[in-house]
Amino acid sequence: MLWKDDVSKMRVAASLLSADFAHLADEIKHVTDAGIEQIHIEVGDGIFSPNITIGAPVVKSLRKVTNAILEAHLMTVYPERKIEEFAQAGADLITFHIEATEQAQTVIHKIKGAGSKAGVALNPATPLCMIEELLYDVDVVLLMTAIPGASGQPLLKNSLDKVKRLHKIIRENNFKCLLEVDGGVNIENAQALREAGANILVAGTAIYDSTDVLASAALLKGE
Ligand code: DX5
Repeated sequence: MLWKDDVSKMRVAASLLSADFAHLADEIKHVTDAGIEQIHIEVGDGIFSPNITIGAPVVKSLRKVTNAILEAHLMTVYPERKIEEFAQAGADLITFHIEATEQAQTVIHKIKGAGSKAGVALNPATPLCMIEELLYDVDVVLLMTAIPGASGQPLLKNSLDKVKRLHKIIRENNFKCLLEVDGGVNIENAQALREAGANILVAGTAIYDSTDVLASAALLKGE
């Protein structure tokens, strides 16, 4: 596992939702060759999130072709039932939605017990208080900053404020979790998101629609 807890280094996670699903291995190489270290795999089940996208068998195949950090973002109901299969498929980080389970602590322990890093995700309308009691235990908090389900949407207006508020809680309590942002991230808003406290920026459109991924990745990281 290539996981790094290093909060000092900005990281871009390329969202496969914006990639060409007919050539996923090439699409991953395209971005890792540009220095992107994390692949954000949107796992949609057509119930919790509108689109059915990628399952554990695909993650298992992608594991064989890349050393990048593979994040399985479970936009699914009953995440507690899916941990083992994604961990065994090779997901380095498994992120579940707090709205999708009443067993958050169990899910976190299951993820860690399976050898992966544990992330908890919040949809834009979900208040931070829903995950405050988990911050000591998770490795990543993922804030959805666009309406979940599709790429290419704008950053929602309250996003910066929500990132700042979460970062303040993490900093004041000296929690070790990383703050990841997903949805509407682009070159224009990346600096404000970094300054607000984001450690990992998930980018779909800003990376896969870019004519110069190396430059786009560097601009998103603030390099
Ligand atoms: C929504 C997805 C998107 C995607 C990022 O469910 O999670 O947020 O990963 O897409 P862009 O970067 O194009 O907003």
